[in-house]
Formats: sequence, C-alpha cells, structure tokens
Amino acid sequence: MWRPELRIDRCVCQRVTFDRLLPVARAEAWTLEQLIQETGCGDQCGMCRPYLRQMLADGTTIFRELLEEIPEASCDAEEAA
Ligand code: FES
Repeated sequence: MWRPELRIDRCVCQRVTFDRLLPVARAEAWTLEQLIQETGCGDQCGMCRPYLRQMLADGTTIFRELLEEIPEASCDAEEAA
C-alpha cells in the first residue's frame, strides 16, 4: 500500500523554509522567542513551533515525523536547566 512521505520543512503561514531560517537564526544566535519576534514564523497558527525549536537545537530543517509543542512552563524549565 502506498503511503505519502511526510515532509515538514517550512513555516506555512510565513512561507519560509527552515533551511532559509537556520543560517540567519544561527548568525544572530536567536532563541525561539527571538526568531518568532523577528520573522513572524510561529506567531500565527503556531504549528511550526516545535519544528523551529528542534531546528534551533540540532539544525534539522526537514522533519519526517510529527512533533508536539512542549508547554511553555516546560520550555522555561528546560532553558533554566
Ligand atoms: S506554520 Fe508557522 S505559524 Fe503557522
């Protein structure tokens, strides 16, 4: 049975691919919140936020699985650790 390949590689709302965002984010040393503020990515439907978070963490720009958003309280705890 044929199954479509999952490929998540962009903020659909801003029409920007993660591979275009990553070099800028690294050059500016943006946190997720700074990236959202500067680009608007993640600030509309928010579906790309877990992918943006992972991109900043390990440089991944193409995702083959669905990621879930981490609640803000957990994010703060992770950043403080
Ligand atoms: S997909 Fe990025 S804010 Fe909607």
